[in-house]
This record gives sequence, structure tokens and C-alpha cells, in this order.
Amino acid sequence: MQECVFVDGVRTPNARAHFEKGWFRNLRPDELLTACYDAIFARNKAVDPEKVDAVLVGVANISGCQTDIGRLGWLAGGYPECVPSNTLTNQCPSGMSAIMHAARAIMTGEADIMIAAGVEDMEKVPMGANYDFPQRLGSRYNGVDLLMGSTAEKVAEVYGIARDDMDNMAIWSHKKAYAAQQAGKFKNEIVPIKGVDDAGNEMLVDKDQWVRETIDPAKLKTMQSPFKPGGTVTAATSSPLTAGACALLLMSRKKADELGLSYSYRYHYGVLAGCDPTVMGIGPIPAVKKLFAKTGLKNSDIGAIELNEAFASQSLACIRELGLDNPNAPFEKVNMWGGALALGHPLGESGARIVVTLLNVLKTEKPEARYGMASLCGAFGNAGALTVEKI
Ligand SMILES: CC(C)(COP(=O)(O)OP(=O)(O)OC[C@H]1O[C@@H](n2cnc3c(N)ncnc32)[C@H](O)[C@@H]1OP(=O)(O)O)[C@@H](O)C(=O)NCCC(=O)NCCS
Repeated sequence: MQECVFVDGVRTPNARAHFEKGWFRNLRPDELLTACYDAIFARNKAVDPEKVDAVLVGVANISGCQTDIGRLGWLAGGYPECVPSNTLTNQCPSGMSAIMHAARAIMTGEADIMIAAGVEDMEKVPMGANYDFPQRLGSRYNGVDLLMGSTAEKVAEVYGIARDDMDNMAIWSHKKAYAAQQAGKFKNEIVPIKGVDDAGNEMLVDKDQWVRETIDPAKLKTMQSPFKPGGTVTAATSSPLTAGACALLLMSRKKADELGLSYSYRYHYGVLAGCDPTVMGIGPIPAVKKLFAKTGLKNSDIGAIELNEAFASQSLACIRELGLDNPNAPFEKVNMWGGALALGHPLGESGARIVVTLLNVLKTEKPEARYGMASLCGAFGNAGALTVEKI
């Protein structure tokens, strides 16, 4: 087996997905991807785009302007026709799946240079757009129970997650994200890109739009659940609607050495897991358990963890059930630079984004750690987890 190393990873900032207020409202998701590809090739001049074995792009909703965005985005960006691509989905873990598939192609020796990416614009292709559910699903599940907000409410109930703990987690997610943003910690991963401000004037977007400098805890207490009468999950404890793209350059160690490119981490192991779609947010529990069982790793071996914050309820349930960190925020090794509650969650992008952030967190905050882990849940009971290892 060849070793697969992470040579680079970049992302656009995450912008609000809104037709009037989103900083990327004038951009298409394929343009966000192009910005990532351009940055990767500009930063790694030794890599000839023609020599890329394949481009794999994860996206949750493959319709409208995200239809076969792997291929069409690559071509629209002016990149070589000879490079094949694959647009893939398993909902939110899509970007992570792209990384796993790319790494495995390299490890088996079928490929040497791969791009794995993730993208979503939740305004231009809203959640659930163009879905045509199999009618037979109706005899197995109540359709309403499969909606993301409903699943978050159910996880809060089943796992006994208190409203105050969720609010507290949202506050800390923003606090950590804001501190990281102010300290310039996202600089290595964020590609500044031209967007528009609220008034429609062109501006260079170089930071995530949703991050709040301050949050009034009293306001959080007054917020109602948009998902269920009397529910406990609110807009503050849900990841917001977001647009963004992320791409990684993965290579066989041999090829990276041949091209004189540097690297610090290799792909270690990755798994997908499934769970009851009506509590889809607990997906990281079976995923991480499976990964630990297969690799023999345990929580104490992991120096930093990126756990996608789809909702505070599901993140807290996973952290507690797996014993990943303190039972309540602030956490020590989970989402050290904040999570999706603050940074946003462009569905297909996040699985790739949390791996890029993990690599930067490891390098910056935990250079002594041997392993880092990323995990996330996804609609309909999809989940993924992977580990990276220091070289
Ligand atoms: C929850 C959700 C419905 C809210 O959508 P929305 O109503 O358009 O959200 P907004 O951003 O307008 O926020 C609503 C209000 O909450 C406030 N708010 C949101 N987050 C807040 C925070 N952290 N602190 C304080 N106020 C906050 C907003 O300021 C706004 O207040 P206003 O009405 O006074 O302006 C939407 O974000 C959502 O569906 N999220 C989940 C997405 C999802 O399912 N992803 C997949 C997961 S697997």
C-alpha cells in the first residue's frame, strides 16, 4: 500500500446562504470551487493540473446549479478535460467521503495525485429541493421525522440534552471561532474571494460570515424552536444556512517527494456508518466506535477532534456518549477553533472543511499529537469518521 499524504487544503470563507444578505449571493457554487482549485495550484506550482488523476467532489444536493458540479465545475473553471471527475453524495459526509475515496485510490496505487472537495450553496439549492422520496419510505418512517430540525429535537429528548447546555455550546462555539478569526488562525485555509456586502458593493471576503463577536445569553433564552411547538432547538443551536467550498490536494508520499512538496500528516483510516435516520445526528457515535474498533485507537490517542456541529443537541449527545471531551462546553480538544454553529455548515462542504481545519488545528495547537480525528453526521442516517496521522 502507498502512503497518502495531505499536501494542501483550502476553503472559501463560509458565507450566509441568503439572496439579500449572503456575501456570496452573486456567485455560483462552481465559482466557489474554482477559487479553491486556483489557490491549490497557485500554492503548489510543481503540480500540473493535467497530472491530477481525478477530482472527487462531495455535495449534498446534486441538482440545479450543483448538478454534476464535480465535472461541470472543473470544466467551467478552465481546467483540463483529460482529468476525470466524480460528483458524489451521502449528504453531509459527502466531502469527507470524497477524501476517503481519493485516499484509497492513492493507497491502492491506482492514483498518485487526487483532488477531494466539497461544496454547497444552501440558498441556490435549498435543502430538499427536487427530492422525490420513495413512497415505500412512508411505511417505514413518518416523513416529518426525517426533517433535520425534527431529528435534532428528537436527539435532545432521547439523550436528555438540556436547553441551557445547547445555548452554552452555541456561545462557546462563537467565542472560539471569533477568537480564532481575530488571531488569524484560519489564514492558512481561507482563500479570500470577491463577494458583495449587504449594500451590494463588491468586497473581498476573507472571513466566515456567521461568526458573532458577542452573544447575549438572555436573548438565547427567549428564542423559540422553529421546528416543533415547545421544542428546545433554536436558530442559535442549529448550524445556519451557508454557502462555501473546500478542496484538498492528496498525493502518494512518493509523488509528493518527487515534486519536492512538503507534508506533515498522512491519511490514516476512514469509515462510514449508518444509524436511525430519525436521530441522524448521533451518526458519529457508531462511526467513531467503528473506527476505534477497526484501528485499535482510543480517545486518549487523539490530540484534536473536529466534530461537525450540525446542531448542539446532536454534538453534545455524541461528545457525551463517546466520552470525547468535557460533557459541556467549553471543550478542550473538540472544535478548538469553534464549530459549525458559528462557522456555518454548507452541507457537502463540511466533511472536507473539518479535515482541513483539523490539519491546521493539529499543526498550530497540538504539534506533538500523533492522531487527529474528524467526524460528522448526515441526513437520513449517514455518518463518517476519519483519522489523520502525523508523519
Ligand atoms: C434554524 C433555521 C431554520 C433558522 O433559520 P432563520 O430563521 O432564517 O435564521 P436567522 O439567521 O434569521 O435567525 C433567526 C433569528 O435568530 C437569531 N439568532 C440566530 N443565531 C443566533 C445566535 N447565535 N445568537 C443570537 N441570536 C441568534 C437571528 O439574529 C434572528 O433574529 P432576528 O429574527 O431578531 O433577526 C436555519 O438556520 C436552519 O434550518 N438550520 C439548520 C440547517 C440544517 O438542517 N442543516 C443540516 C444539518 S444536518
